[in-house]
Amino acid sequence: MGVSGKALAHDSAHLHVTGQAAYTDDLPEPRDLLHLAVGMSSKAHARIRNIDLSRVQDFAGVHACFVAAEIPGENNYGPIVHDDPIFADELAQYAGQPLFAVAATSVDAARKAARLAEVDYEELEAILDPATAVARESFVLPSQEIHRGEPEQALAAAPHRLQRHTSVGGQDQFYLEGHIAMALPQEDGGLLIYSSTQHPDEVQQLAADVTGRSAKDVVVICRRMGGAFGGKESQAALIACIAALMSDKTGRPCKLRLDRDDDMVMTGKRHDFEIDYDVGFDDEGRILGIDFALAARCGMSADLSGPVNDRAMFHCDNTYYLENVRITSHRCKTNTVSNTAFRGFGGPQGMFAIEHVMDEIARHLGKDPLAVRRSNFYGTDERNVTHYQQTIEDNIIHDIVDELVLSSDYAARRDDIRAFNANSKVLKKGIALTPVKFGISFTSTHLNQAGALVHVYKDGSVQLNHGGTEMGQGLYIKVAQVVADEFGIDIDAIRITAADTSKVPNASATAASSGTDMNGMAARAAARKIKARLIEFAARHYGINESAVEFSSGEVVAGKQTVSFEKLVRLAWLDRVSLSATGYYKTPKINYDHDTLSGRPFFYYAYGAAVSEVIVDTLSGEHRILRVDILHDCGDSLNPAIDIGQVEGGFVQGAGWLTTEELCWNEAGQLTTHAPSTYKIPVSSDLAIDFRVKLLQNANNAEDTIYRSKAVGEPPLMLGLSVYHAIRDALSGANLNAPATPEAVLGALAGDRHE
Ligand code: MTE
Ligand code: HPA
Ligand code: MOS
Repeated sequence: MGVSGKALAHDSAHLHVTGQAAYTDDLPEPRDLLHLAVGMSSKAHARIRNIDLSRVQDFAGVHACFVAAEIPGENNYGPIVHDDPIFADELAQYAGQPLFAVAATSVDAARKAARLAEVDYEELEAILDPATAVARESFVLPSQEIHRGEPEQALAAAPHRLQRHTSVGGQDQFYLEGHIAMALPQEDGGLLIYSSTQHPDEVQQLAADVTGRSAKDVVVICRRMGGAFGGKESQAALIACIAALMSDKTGRPCKLRLDRDDDMVMTGKRHDFEIDYDVGFDDEGRILGIDFALAARCGMSADLSGPVNDRAMFHCDNTYYLENVRITSHRCKTNTVSNTAFRGFGGPQGMFAIEHVMDEIARHLGKDPLAVRRSNFYGTDERNVTHYQQTIEDNIIHDIVDELVLSSDYAARRDDIRAFNANSKVLKKGIALTPVKFGISFTSTHLNQAGALVHVYKDGSVQLNHGGTEMGQGLYIKVAQVVADEFGIDIDAIRITAADTSKVPNASATAASSGTDMNGMAARAAARKIKARLIEFAARHYGINESAVEFSSGEVVAGKQTVSFEKLVRLAWLDRVSLSATGYYKTPKINYDHDTLSGRPFFYYAYGAAVSEVIVDTLSGEHRILRVDILHDCGDSLNPAIDIGQVEGGFVQGAGWLTTEELCWNEAGQLTTHAPSTYKIPVSSDLAIDFRVKLLQNANNAEDTIYRSKAVGEPPLMLGLSVYHAIRDALSGANLNAPATPEAVLGALAGDRHE
């Protein structure tokens, strides 16, 4: 192969580091642009008696205001259930909910004016946490249950049994580029929207719906996002719809860029979970029966909470065989912002639950948690059917863990740490190895489809387009590598173009880590169509067999002749051969019955494991990550530089979720951690002092994916669980919820130990 598998730099790296990469806010501003700001509810739950906007209207520079009643179409941007108003009408359901928008000649004027509304609220009782929601049966969607075997009998008969409650916090996506959209009216009712979105197709449809158009009249373009992490899968549409509505009302281009604090308050995050379980196990720590109850904070609407919680249920096994199991999942309706996709999409919370179980079992039995984990691993030929009835055909977790145990020197370091702790009163070290198995595919089967559009110009250069969006993850370069190899040309012969709903229609969100898998295949299909035409032409032109035509290194060998790719393309054009094609892909083999929550939701699994070592100061509750060893499976990597970046970034983001990132709401239901001053994401100084990341070698995907690679976007986030468990190890299993902030660590040390 030519460039696939090579560690090429991100296609925009030189633009990122020189400030030339154009994000939505960098686009040239049209002459009569208006800037928007959103007025938000200050109450978590209230009837809105009246919104008086006279002071807003009168503010210098203000051009127009917009409220719910003016929406021509449906007042909704909910992607699945229609329960997400653009603007609250009579009922405010969270503090931060949009009530109206204001358009002004400057950003500053719009933002200042938006604060001047006088809103008459009749306050209602608010439900602010999942536990209360469960008690009141306040749900955004019906509770679900997966059940296999005989959990009750197995629990009753088990030699050992533990019941535990734990919780894991939410997480703000904290993309560096906040939500933004710019809408430009076009001639004859057309509308062009630049949107920072993972899902241009959905923005197109929803903007059409709210403005009373059809999809054909709206074009959505996104060249890149400055990070998304799931936060721009569904909720980017809110921002784009507001810009679209205001541009229709004013007849002028409108841009809405949320201020960081407003972004954090107004838009959804990772779901925090309350977790209860009852587990029965044998003397080895092997689970005999388990009963999980998960309660997730969905916030005020359904958004993507259905599939998020389904994925949490699917990942309550992680790499472990659960023979007798019940999982109950409550999708709690609370008067807080509607939670949404975040890297891992429920998977991390499900894995958090089962890894907590492993740790508790090990402590109860006085065993190394790794031994307990291993004794519960899925088998390769037996004990290999998941609780949702998918047979695992590609299990490589045994090999990964064996290799990592050796390369990280786990056993000796564990002994050293025990010795260190025996002689250290204040500083305590801990170590943990945690595995990951993550299912690849959208659990909604119909979303597993993609399209691409490839043009070859008569000078032999290529333009590539597909339905995927670039959020920094390296999708565009990986797909370009595939197309370069199909034509046997250099990567520089290809121009990568922005996601554009007028080029590839009906594209799914770039999500579920499936971007490269699906768009890579679609782009390959398009390239192969053109290549087949070129081969047919070359055979005819040179009077040879088609099998004698080969493409490589920018050249085409046609029997005894060798011509440049450019030359062949030109000859083909002169002969009137079409040099443009669409490509389409749908993921094979998957089928999944939503009513029974069973089938084969996933095409395959991505695996990995991490060993983290930490040191905890038991007086301050602070910790440092001393060393991390990761072995991660990207199949046959399309681009090891990009993939290692994804593994490193995912791990750090996962560790942040479980250690420093804490979302707090006050008693009025207002988010109090809405800026980097109070919400602490990991920074470079939090990186492990010794950080060793390796991709598994000779690891062809067992399934026929693009060049046998594997998806990498989300799975490594869950490797961060090893940091949380290393901290637990340092504290000898104190009852520690996540995130393990210094306060949580001190609280855990101060008492509430089990037994
Ligand atoms: N990497 C960067 N740099 N920025 C992001 O926003 N999002 C993650 C992951 N990696 C993200 C990222 C999420 S949530 C997903 S689903 C995948 O990238 C999506 O891209 P892919 O399908 O092309 O892997
Ligand atoms: N992952 C990410 N996004 C999604 C999914 C999923 O499984 N299903 C619907 N949107
Ligand atoms: Mo990623 S959470 O599937 O956008």
